[in-house]
Amino acid sequence: MKGLVLAGGTATRLFPLTIVTNKHLLPIYDRPMIYYPLDTLAGMGIREVMVIVGGKSVGDIVELLGDGRHFGLDLTYRYQRGALGIAHAIGLARDFIGDDAFCVVLGDNILRGDPLAPLARQFEDEQWGAGTLLYKVPDPERFGVAEFGPDGKVVGFEEKPKQPKSDLIPIGVYFLRPDAFDVIENLAPSGRGEFEITDVLNHFIPGGRLFAPVYEGHWADAGTVPSLLRSAEMAEEDDRAGRLPRPVERPRDPA
Ligand code: DAU
Repeated sequence: MKGLVLAGGTATRLFPLTIVTNKHLLPIYDRPMIYYPLDTLAGMGIREVMVIVGGKSVGDIVELLGDGRHFGLDLTYRYQRGALGIAHAIGLARDFIGDDAFCVVLGDNILRGDPLAPLARQFEDEQWGAGTLLYKVPDPERFGVAEFGPDGKVVGFEEKPKQPKSDLIPIGVYFLRPDAFDVIENLAPSGRGEFEITDVLNHFIPGGRLFAPVYEGHWADAGTVPSLLRSAEMAEEDDRAGRLPRPVERPRDPA
């Protein structure tokens, strides 16, 4: 399996913090935000990862992460021109992904506690078409929201609905296969002008091809000021409990 971290976008919800810098460089407790999704992928045993960059301070992201060997990763980068949506950003990785299954982690998603490797294996072994992880939140209208049928199975996802049909949301972890790129190519932009990941997930619901287990660990999306603070508190709790790995520093490149 290959990995993808999305670190583009404009992060207007964090202004003025992100007027001149990229959201994914902001500190969460003792390390830059983007360390967390990279750690999530590394923890799954994934080695080849593409980072989609865009917006501010793209060069600083590359300077921070380099070739990724200090994370045990082999990193490459692709530039997204304009914040055209999560599905659009994923679409840029088509050549990099080739014929492999892949896991996408949004650059502002912080996951702790429940390792993803068994879920990734289950996605592959059981031949699901696409996958995401569900999480219960008190404010579902901020996210994609799952709707369930009478049998308890997901029948659709709606992006930021005014009237959410449940309090379970798809977090920013997606398991996909190369056929997702054909789905993305045929997407139309949503009302807010973005190519939505929820539309990609919806494509795989008919025929029961969507893998959507509930995530049992801790999760936060660091994309707003309260959730940025919550993410740092979560990291601190983990640190006190001895569960936060030491932040890795990039060694100096040879001159
Ligand atoms: O965090 C989970 C939620 O993430 C899901 O429940 C939603 O379905 C999904 O759309 C997404 O919602 P957000 O409003 O939180 O997405 P945001 O625009 O903040 O983008 C999430 C990450 O993706 C962010 O770290 C930057 C990156 N991104 C975003 C866009 C729009 C890109 O790399 N390129 C983009 O064009």
